[in-house]
Amino acid sequence: MIMPDIEKPFLASLEERLRHSNAFLKNLILSSVDGVMAADCKGKILIFNDAASEITGYSSDEALDQLNIRDIYPAKVAYAVMQKLRSDDCGGRGKLQSYQVDVLGKDGQKIPISLNAAIVYEKGEEVASVGFFHDLRQTLQIQKELEQTQMQLLQAEKMASLGKLAAGVAHQINNPLGGIILYAGLMLEEYELKDEAREDLNRILRDAERCKDTVKELLEFARQTRYEMRPLDINKAIVRTLFLLENQTLFQNIKIERQLDEGIPPVNGDSQQLNHLFMNIILNAAQAMSGSGTLTVSTRRGANNKRAHIAIADTGPGIPPDVMPQIFDPFYTTKEEGEGTGIGLSLVYGIIENHGGSIKAVNREPNGACFFIELPLSTPPDEEECLES
Ligand SMILES: Nc1ncnc2c1ncn2[C@@H]1O[C@H](COP(=O)(O)OP(=O)(O)OP(=O)(O)O)[C@@H](O)[C@H]1O
Ligand SMILES: [Mg+2]
Repeated sequence: MIMPDIEKPFLASLEERLRHSNAFLKNLILSSVDGVMAADCKGKILIFNDAASEITGYSSDEALDQLNIRDIYPAKVAYAVMQKLRSDDCGGRGKLQSYQVDVLGKDGQKIPISLNAAIVYEKGEEVASVGFFHDLRQTLQIQKELEQTQMQLLQAEKMASLGKLAAGVAHQINNPLGGIILYAGLMLEEYELKDEAREDLNRILRDAERCKDTVKELLEFARQTRYEMRPLDINKAIVRTLFLLENQTLFQNIKIERQLDEGIPPVNGDSQQLNHLFMNIILNAAQAMSGSGTLTVSTRRGANNKRAHIAIADTGPGIPPDVMPQIFDPFYTTKEEGEGTGIGLSLVYGIIENHGGSIKAVNREPNGACFFIELPLSTPPDEEECLES
């Protein structure tokens, strides 16, 4: 039971008063953007506004005539809400503030809401409860997407530091390793070496080669190697990356123009890698525009029907001619220490290569850079792609 029983005549008069309170007040409640529902102490629903209908799927009439407040919540949740309301836990006795709870939609689906509720007292007696709530689905979805973006950005950061580490290791170890291999080899060519010494030298050579392989593996790992290729919609991959990025502060003053050709057949690709690819190019564009300008992303089907063409253009300062030849080099950056490691476009290049595609950067008139990408469409293995000029 939700509230202690009160006398019937009193209840009837309260119901009457609540139902027929002045028209303005009713209108106010019914037109509230938040869902509003009120129930008497037996759980009979007295108010159920349009927003509550929209969230739950029950019409107001259905709710008023057929539902008990307990039906709106999953099992035992109505009781838990009342317990909270009666405690001092969330906003004081008789009040509940920003309490996250599920309601049950008409189709049985659980809908997360944020609930502000209060007990209505008459002469110190509980006579009703009223709740104001809003749908949290979209907020929670965006929160989830943002967390994923953060994870991806963190991953990109990790990749960048790992790349730096790998390059450092390669540089520090490869040179002395080359010396070890060279001189051990030379000594082996010495004709009068004892068998034991020859065996030791062979061992040195073998171990040195193993070290070389390890360094190579480390470098390959930093450049990402695991791919899961499948036919995928390139427009969807772009839209997803844009959706993840446009919520970031850097993109607040960037106008994003999408010119996506809906008729492009699927591309054969690894969705995560393509996400990395677009993310790196788009992040570079946003950074080049210092967070304000226009980003244009367009897609179209190549003339010979074998490739998808993607262009990502910005209105930043463009790429200076002396920088252009080096932009895809690992660890080449024009950014300040801590702002860029120069791994972004080299990762992009590796991903493009692994997809059998191509990429080039050009400057646009009057300003800005544009990256042209071509990716093979998913075609039967016998139909080999031919490069478009
Ligand atoms: N859209 C662009 N406009 C102007 N310059 C660009 C653009 N994209 C890339 N560049 C230049 O290419 C360089 C290399 O880019 P890359 O993404 O590889 O490294 P980064 O952005 O400097 O660092 P990181 O991506 O590791 O954080 C950049 O430092 C920048 O000078
Ligand atoms: Mg970058």
